[in-house]
Amino acid sequence: MGRLIKIFDTTLRDGEQSPGCSMNLQEKIQMAKQLEILKVDVIEAGFAIASPGDFAAVKEIAKSIKNCTVASLARTLPKDITCAWEAIQYAAQPRIHTFIATSDIHMKYKLKLKPDEVIESAISAVKLAKQYCADVEFSAEDATRSNPAFLYKIIKAVIDVGATVINIPDTVGYSTPDEIYSLIYGISQNVSNIHKAEISVHCHNDLGLAVANSLAAVKGGATQIECTINGIGERAGNAALEEIVMGIHTRKDIYSVDCNVETKQILRTSKLLSTITGIQVQPNKAIVGANAFAHESGIHQHGVMEERSTYEIMSPETIGLSQNKMVLGKHSGRHAFHERLKMLGFDVSKEELDRAFLRFKELADKKKEVDNRDIEAIMTKDFVEARKVYT
Ligand code: KIV
Ligand code: ZN
Repeated sequence: MGRLIKIFDTTLRDGEQSPGCSMNLQEKIQMAKQLEILKVDVIEAGFAIASPGDFAAVKEIAKSIKNCTVASLARTLPKDITCAWEAIQYAAQPRIHTFIATSDIHMKYKLKLKPDEVIESAISAVKLAKQYCADVEFSAEDATRSNPAFLYKIIKAVIDVGATVINIPDTVGYSTPDEIYSLIYGISQNVSNIHKAEISVHCHNDLGLAVANSLAAVKGGATQIECTINGIGERAGNAALEEIVMGIHTRKDIYSVDCNVETKQILRTSKLLSTITGIQVQPNKAIVGANAFAHESGIHQHGVMEERSTYEIMSPETIGLSQNKMVLGKHSGRHAFHERLKMLGFDVSKEELDRAFLRFKELADKKKEVDNRDIEAIMTKDFVEARKVYT
């Protein structure tokens, strides 16, 4: 077993910030319970001070989850920290997650604070959070556009006052894998007390690099990854949990790490989120899309029927899908068509198969996908005699 990477799920906080993804209390509790079954290490239940609804959700999740750490987000303001604690104090393993921006752009235009004032604010927040809770995470918002020397300074300062997790967000999805690798590695080498804290990464997907960046950060030394189910989140979303977990799982040869996630629960969790939010993932979405384990071309279908590893790098069962899907369309071959006929109960001679296959190809040219009812129609028209009678 390799180094254990913690999976910090922020579907209920950053994910919920995705337009159209807000959830009510019951839905959040249902989702949190499924995340517990999925065995994520940390559930970020919400941003307690954001609204009474968020506060109630964080509090109820804290009460009902027993096997994961439950975190609430808080700015570095004392009222945020106190509110976060009031909501998560019931958790079996509570965590306060406080953040402040560290990039020049954010400090100047958003916070209107000098760098030293930002450090002071971060120190005070972590000190206050520590009075409530042993587990305190500090996030340097917009870390990837921050001056690394300044980052080292603020990270050292918050660890000195007790921060247990240091999170490096790529808030605007600006980083690249090489860059984030160097940043995380640089932190591990240049912050003298970093061994006292966990290094975490939190990547957004504006350039479509969130998962690649998260995995590069693991190579650089990160031991916690923040992510969301189906990659939901602000703008283009956050790193997708299912892609990170299956990346780690499938490429152990590269990453040499493990995580606690129960991969067989991945599909169920993805579907639950889609059902709750009404937002479906696109069919070609990695891991959980409808086509992620579907094969249409004849060459691929033949290969997979002979030996699955020809075109499948993961087995569908690993993510909780009962089997792969052979889609019959114009690219499909005789082999897959014959297999489908047999599955539907048609026992055909070679000559019948040739004729039926011709019909099928004609139809496939006109339709995107030929389904079982189409095949039944082809067969019942001219091949009734070929039908094997079952029952
Ligand atoms: O993207 C971000 O910077 C965040 C922090 C609050 C962790 O979501
Ligand atoms: Zn974020």
